[in-house]
Amino acid sequence: MSMFNDQTRLWKVNNDTCADTVYNAIKSGYRLFDGACGMSSQSPSQIPECDSYVFLDYGNEQESGQGVARAIKEGIVKREDLFLVSKLWNSFHDHDRVEPICKKQLKDWGIDYFDLYIVHFPISLKYVDPSERYPPGFTYDGKNVVPGNATIQETWQAMEKLVENGLAKSIGISNFNGQLLMDLLRYAKIVPATLQIEHHPYLTQEGLVKFGQSQGIVITAYSSFGPQSFLELDMQRAKDTPLLMDNATVKKIAEKHSKTPAQVLLRWATQRDVAVIPKSNNQGRLAQNLDVTGWDLEKSEIDDISGLDKNLRFNDPLNVSTAIRQ
Ligand SMILES: NC(=O)c1ccc[n+]([C@@H]2O[C@H](COP(=O)([O-])OP(=O)(O)OC[C@H]3O[C@@H](n4cnc5c(N)ncnc54)[C@H](OP(=O)(O)O)[C@@H]3O)[C@@H](O)[C@H]2O)c1
Repeated sequence: MSMFNDQTRLWKVNNDTCADTVYNAIKSGYRLFDGACGMSSQSPSQIPECDSYVFLDYGNEQESGQGVARAIKEGIVKREDLFLVSKLWNSFHDHDRVEPICKKQLKDWGIDYFDLYIVHFPISLKYVDPSERYPPGFTYDGKNVVPGNATIQETWQAMEKLVENGLAKSIGISNFNGQLLMDLLRYAKIVPATLQIEHHPYLTQEGLVKFGQSQGIVITAYSSFGPQSFLELDMQRAKDTPLLMDNATVKKIAEKHSKTPAQVLLRWATQRDVAVIPKSNNQGRLAQNLDVTGWDLEKSEIDDISGLDKNLRFNDPLNVSTAIRQ
């Protein structure tokens, strides 16, 4: 299965429509679905001094599983045709918490293995029992962000056990920088299959992309459209940033190829061997985002788009650091 042209993502896919969105995406040809335990629906204002952090809110794994089950039941796909991805949330990094939470997530999806299971952030937070609150979000008690004690080595070794025990076919990481990745590679028995990072023309992360690729790690881009994704979260930094889809360079290249700016942004990434996982709740845009492989940008066009880099990050968990209780 191509890593590039049949993937969709489940963050901000609404719970009430999620099963239908997943089912319709499978019908449209999507085969990879990227879910996560996600976080609770806390608003940033519930954490003091934390008004710019993005609170992910997938929390839709049961509904995603229902969409998958319907497609399998109707004979549209078999389980083995799909590539189902989920993530280990920060509160479950302790070595003895990894397998139980992975099993809970599998149960929510209604499946018995993930094709890929990813460490969502290189951040360990104090354990929150799922019977208390699920998904737990960033806070321990609904108010305070409390660090956990797990090292990334401990967490990665527990992730490797998931592969040994058949709960995950492959494992990966997300939101790691180059330094953390170099450290992990010192002890990893299993090299991460992928590194999922924020990646768009305002944040090209050339060094990290090249280093990861040199280690045989597939780099996967999230938020490929830059600020677009963060507007619906009302993030001020996104509101203050010109949209990539309105950028003159991107628009000119799109017109030349008779494609949309969104398609150009996705092709720019895939031609740099970066996998993309665009999210859409809209059937037409889902179809549009699949049509991004049968045509090529010229090298000069790729370079012009890369030239828009401003090292501008929208999803920065360090924005919660001022709220962390030691
Ligand atoms: N590992 C992590 O920490 C992490 C963090 C963030 C995201 N992710 C993953 O990456 C996925 C994608 O990232 P994302 O949701 O941030 O952003 P994205 O895919 O870059 O952007 C989604 C936004 O673009 C719009 N859109 C999608 N296709 C479009 C098109 N062809 N033309 C115009 N607008 C379009 C969507 O609106 P409509 O829905 O209305 O089309 C939505 O507002 C997430 O769902 C999640 O699975 C992972």
